[in-house]
Amino acid sequence: MTQKSQNITRVEHRIEDTERHTKAGHRGGVIWLTGLSGSGKSTLAFTLEKHLFDQGYQVYVLDGDNIRHGLSGNLGFSEEDRRENIRRVGEVAGLFARAGVIAIAAFISPYHEERQLARGICQDNFVEVYLSASLEVCEGRDPKGLYKMARRGQIPDFTGIDAPYEKPEHADVVLDTGSRTVEDCTQELSNLINDRFRLPSVS
Ligand SMILES: Nc1ncnc2c1ncn2[C@@H]1O[C@H](COP(=O)(O)OP(=O)(O)OP(=O)(O)O)[C@@H](O)[C@H]1O
Ligand SMILES: [Mg+2]
Repeated sequence: MTQKSQNITRVEHRIEDTERHTKAGHRGGVIWLTGLSGSGKSTLAFTLEKHLFDQGYQVYVLDGDNIRHGLSGNLGFSEEDRRENIRRVGEVAGLFARAGVIAIAAFISPYHEERQLARGICQDNFVEVYLSASLEVCEGRDPKGLYKMARRGQIPDFTGIDAPYEKPEHADVVLDTGSRTVEDCTQELSNLINDRFRLPSVS
């Protein structure tokens, strides 16, 4: 991205990150769910959000479809627009993490480079989770009827059909959402988040 603004100066917060973490009982971070349409990103994201919320976490889902109604409402599905969408979401997820929240990002995010960019913003608080259900499984589920429309040529640039999906090669976690249950996958992510982000209790 070309930086257009000039004459801007950063202003420091008066609250340390650690003060936020102590208050919440956990550090902030980004759980980045990537996978084909129908691989289960939204299903897992919202199930996990509720699960973590009930355990006392500050947690919020950033979901592809929702973000495209607002923040990215002016973007389409060309390669350039998809990249810009993920750049914006990476920045927003990074802000959530800095604010001490666990942001669960549910985006197809088909390009390796943009996922790396998002990781760079959040650094070691970024967990990339690849939902590895195959195209056959996802197309068989077709929960929104999108694959059918894409096959009929009614949706151009549909990931997996006529637009690429670059499989993550070094994801932090791979969940085979084609064969495992939602509960099982949620529990694995919840355990990982407890290990990585929860502060030891002081009682
Ligand atoms: N282990 C699993 N994890 C998540 N979803 C699963 C799993 N097993 C089966 N499913 C089912 O797969 C479907 C996934 O649909 P969902 O809308 O969550 O996909 P998505 O990845 O968000 O797609 P899109 O990119 O189009 O938004 C749901 O019907 C869900 O019940
Ligand atoms: Mg979804």
